[in-house]
Amino acid sequence: MATWKYDVEDNDPYLFKQGDIIKIGDVATVAVADIEKGDIPKFIRKVKISPTVVYSDPPWNAGNATSFRTKAGLPRKVVFMEGFMKQFLKGVKYKKVFIEMGFQKVKEVEDLIKEAGGVVYKTYEVKYYKKHESRLIWCGWGVNSVQEKIDLTGYDDNDLPTIVIQHYTDKNDVIFDPCTGVEACTPLAAISAGRYYLGTELSPYRLCRSIHEIVKKSGGEVKKIGNLYQ
Ligand SMILES: C[S@@+](CC[C@H](N)C(=O)[O-])C[C@H]1O[C@@H](n2cnc3c(N)ncnc32)[C@H](O)[C@@H]1O
Repeated sequence: MATWKYDVEDNDPYLFKQGDIIKIGDVATVAVADIEKGDIPKFIRKVKISPTVVYSDPPWNAGNATSFRTKAGLPRKVVFMEGFMKQFLKGVKYKKVFIEMGFQKVKEVEDLIKEAGGVVYKTYEVKYYKKHESRLIWCGWGVNSVQEKIDLTGYDDNDLPTIVIQHYTDKNDVIFDPCTGVEACTPLAAISAGRYYLGTELSPYRLCRSIHEIVKKSGGEVKKIGNLYQ
């Protein structure tokens, strides 16, 4: 049992390899993909489904991003966080985008959003693990008028995907999270609300755990449908 790898067994049926694109029933399509390599636009092109809303909790400093690479079995260090964020933003330029992050780097990320042609509507003070100070940046691309539907101040990050999806999306929206993670917070919130989910994730182990969570929630067959690099 490889416990450090999020309790994934080596013969786990959902342990896919780098670049694999996986369809889960009729609720979601995900891929093992690397934002830094420019995989987000590649993924969207390959699956031929356009996201309309992005909700994500990406790594927001170099130590954090490097540790996720190490846990994914990829040795290279992230020393240039701005490069990571630029690749992330290139792939998420949609009308409604919500980015969770630590408060220390908010100004830098807001500036990068503006540099990438986006508009920052509002940055909320939220909570991480119910007590730590954190932020949620609400931004968008190509929108002329926006309206705040709910004050998101003070919410815990675990509850935010559900609250945002309830208030800012409708049933035709496709929800995208480039950093799907291990707990499947965004996909579970999207699927519970009846929205289609698109996601990428660097770590096959973390994605595997998330696929298990999605299948627990919605059932459906898990099928590899292609690879980003072939
Ligand atoms: C803070 S966690 C997200 C947690 C997630 N919301 C959940 O429900 O578990 C950030 C995620 O980004 C992923 N990540 C880090 N670097 C990445 C990269 N270069 N490309 C894609 N995903 C990456 C990490 O592996 C990690 O799962």
